[in-house]
Amino acid sequence: MNRPRWFHGLLSAICLGITAAPTASAAPPRVESIEERGMTKMPFGKLPDGTPVEIFTLTNGGVTAKITNYGGIVTELHVPDKAGKTADVVLGFDTLEGYLAGHPYFGAITGRYANRIAGGKFTLEGKTYSLAVNNGPNSLHGGLKGFDKQVWKAEELKTPDGPALKLSRTSPDGEEGYPGNLAVTVTYTLTNAGALKIDYTATTDKPTVLNLTNHSYFNLAGAAAGKILDHEIMISADKVTAVDDNLIPTGVLADVAGTPLDFGKSTAIGARIAQIPGEPGGYDHNYVIRDYKPGSKTPVLTARVKDPKSGRVMKVLTTEPGVQLYTANFLDGTLKGKGGVVYDKNRAFCLETQHWPDSPNHASFPSTKLNPGDTYTQTTIYEFSAE
Ligand code: GLA
Repeated sequence: MNRPRWFHGLLSAICLGITAAPTASAAPPRVESIEERGMTKMPFGKLPDGTPVEIFTLTNGGVTAKITNYGGIVTELHVPDKAGKTADVVLGFDTLEGYLAGHPYFGAITGRYANRIAGGKFTLEGKTYSLAVNNGPNSLHGGLKGFDKQVWKAEELKTPDGPALKLSRTSPDGEEGYPGNLAVTVTYTLTNAGALKIDYTATTDKPTVLNLTNHSYFNLAGAAAGKILDHEIMISADKVTAVDDNLIPTGVLADVAGTPLDFGKSTAIGARIAQIPGEPGGYDHNYVIRDYKPGSKTPVLTARVKDPKSGRVMKVLTTEPGVQLYTANFLDGTLKGKGGVVYDKNRAFCLETQHWPDSPNHASFPSTKLNPGDTYTQTTIYEFSAE
């Protein structure tokens, strides 16, 4: 088994009775367990209508993830640096109320359609569907009440690969305007190799479209440490889907070579970010993954990010044809997250593995159609190490 170097250090620490348990503040109650591998479940609060929400803590080999069944949100992800010191590398809130007050999809499962659908409309088998519109004229990340705001059924699993949390729900026919009763599962596994693996499945009883992703905001130094402009990133892509002023694809696949969008060689995120035009500026682009193989269930390397100070490295592998690099351009300092940290512009980056934006309106893009009798699958792996 290919375990990162810090894993062995941690194992010795556990044997000696010391633990590098994640440090964090007050609510919800922290689990101070030195269990090497496993899962605990705690109440995370209630929705205004009284629906209870839970939070699960998954631990494996020095990595700890907290995931709530509200929106399938990854609320915390504690990862060791090169010295074995852990930091929480995702943005989010300490309490359910933080999420209920509104936020830009921190850590959430977005669906039914991650990213944008132009004008909130698409035509399928001769019928035009009108979706909930929530981003200017467009529908973004599933509409007004997408998968990020739903309570999912949760099931705790023990797998040979590590502890896993299986979330499921049936999105009813017509939800946010989308056709078909859609049965969805999202399984988070915290693997023995120090990775957070996300497997998605879906089936429908009517032809429909879907595009699922996880919208985690990462800061490999820990959110309190500052912006992510010095993180170095490589993206395995030669092209992006060119977009108009509303971030809707024009249908053109634009070469990135020789532009500030080119991350073929590992480069600091901030090195050329000021050259990206627009307001608020910054990266918000869908990259066309070079090694994507239609129909393949084997995730391929999509991106690699390193924080040079802590040495933390995150590799992203996926079965999807695209990845949206988003540098948290819309964070403007009005949201305060975990531990009171002010979330300002470029405090984090997202690598949203997905089908391309607005695919239902572009016949030349990889299809996002799902037919009854077929099963949608998607696998994305966020793999951590330190060097
Ligand atoms: C995606 C979009 C961005 C923004 C964020 C959420 O990354 O591409 O434009 O909407 O989600 O704020």
